[in-house]
Amino acid sequence: MIKIGVLGSGSMGAGIAQVAATAGHEVILYDSNPAALEKASQKLQKILNRLVEKGRLEDARAKAIFARIHFVAAMEAYQDCGLIIEAIIEDLAIKKQVFKKLESIVAKDCILASNTSSLSIASIAAACENSNRVLGIHFFNPAPLMKLVEIIPAIQTDSAVTKNATEMIEAWGKLTVLAKDTPGFIVNRVARPFYGEALRILEEGIADVATIDWAMTEIAGFRMGPFTLMDYIGNDINYIVTETVFKAFYFDPRYKPAFTQKRLSEAGYLGRKSGRGYYDYSEGAAAPQANMDRKLGETIVDRILVMLINEAADALYLNVASKEDIDLAMTKGVNYPKGLLRWADEKGIEQCVLGMDQLQQEYLEDRYRCSPLLRKMAKEGWQFFDEPA
Ligand SMILES: NC(=O)c1ccc[n+]([C@@H]2O[C@H](COP(=O)([O-])OP(=O)(O)OC[C@H]3O[C@@H](n4cnc5c(N)ncnc54)[C@H](O)[C@@H]3O)[C@@H](O)[C@H]2O)c1
Repeated sequence: MIKIGVLGSGSMGAGIAQVAATAGHEVILYDSNPAALEKASQKLQKILNRLVEKGRLEDARAKAIFARIHFVAAMEAYQDCGLIIEAIIEDLAIKKQVFKKLESIVAKDCILASNTSSLSIASIAAACENSNRVLGIHFFNPAPLMKLVEIIPAIQTDSAVTKNATEMIEAWGKLTVLAKDTPGFIVNRVARPFYGEALRILEEGIADVATIDWAMTEIAGFRMGPFTLMDYIGNDINYIVTETVFKAFYFDPRYKPAFTQKRLSEAGYLGRKSGRGYYDYSEGAAAPQANMDRKLGETIVDRILVMLINEAADALYLNVASKEDIDLAMTKGVNYPKGLLRWADEKGIEQCVLGMDQLQQEYLEDRYRCSPLLRKMAKEGWQFFDEPA
């Protein structure tokens, strides 16, 4: 079994190290900050102990997993690794520096991967002399629990590297989807309207936070409403992802961030982690009541859902991923109750086009333009899938 290197021992790095060690690999975990490495060691020990207490893992196995993770103080320890996954700070210049250094340490056939959420894999790969060994391997948080992993070859990546990396991640029990090296890959692109359209509805005064969350959970069946989820992710993080995607798409109005979220983030109302976001998490705070008007709820659901479907259809139209992978990414990466393209079939493609056109006629904004693929499909009477799920 090849040795795995993980670079950066923060939330993602520690989780990825756990996944690889659980799959039986020796793991070399390095962080430039010794305190972060120590914290990761304590955190991993605690997680494994908890799994033993809950009866999900035998004590001896937990000890063996922990013993396979080597916390190291220098990158030179990566020299005999077969795959290295980088999960350091989201900064292109620093990532490039690190990849360059990695290449001077590892063997010629070592695969180098980045867990970046938003940077271009092509630009990270370009820092390497042998750029065809570089690709994106994007885990979701928390890595040990989330099944989905996006595999992102850059234009430079050798197809054998993509194949080997995919097989390796699948052997770790993950479900992989193949995504084009475009902003947000699949999940962070297709999910934007879940937050953005909910915020727009709030800003227009159509409904309040509790009502939008109620509609999306109780009527549409999502596990969490958009505002509860944004508070959970952190408004600072969620805002930055939106802003990054918006800029990366040359300011396409479809991805425009919302002032409401920017102000919350600026005010330090980050969500659960700061005790306050869209909701107040302090003890004894009263939870706001939703307006459970079914008609209003359905209007909210129809609007957010049609925007999500349009985004998924456009990702397919632009060959970001296959239709199967787009649906799998959203159900396994962010737990959507149904794949958006299957949902489109169920709703009726013509209905989806009508929904987008009504929004565009009302607002006259490019934000609401219908994907050419949906329009063509409606005209031809096509569906995304022939067979029911
Ligand atoms: N947090 C998420 O939900 C999530 C999900 C998917 C992908 N990602 C991506 O994963 C990466 C890491 O995110 P995170 O949330 O784990 O961050 P984090 O801040 O928790 O951890 C980053 C770690 O990298 C270390 N580090 C910084 N510069 C370094 C360097 N030059 N060399 C070695 N170590 C260095 C830091 O000390 C820190 O411990 C980012 O690229 C992020 O976009 C994050």
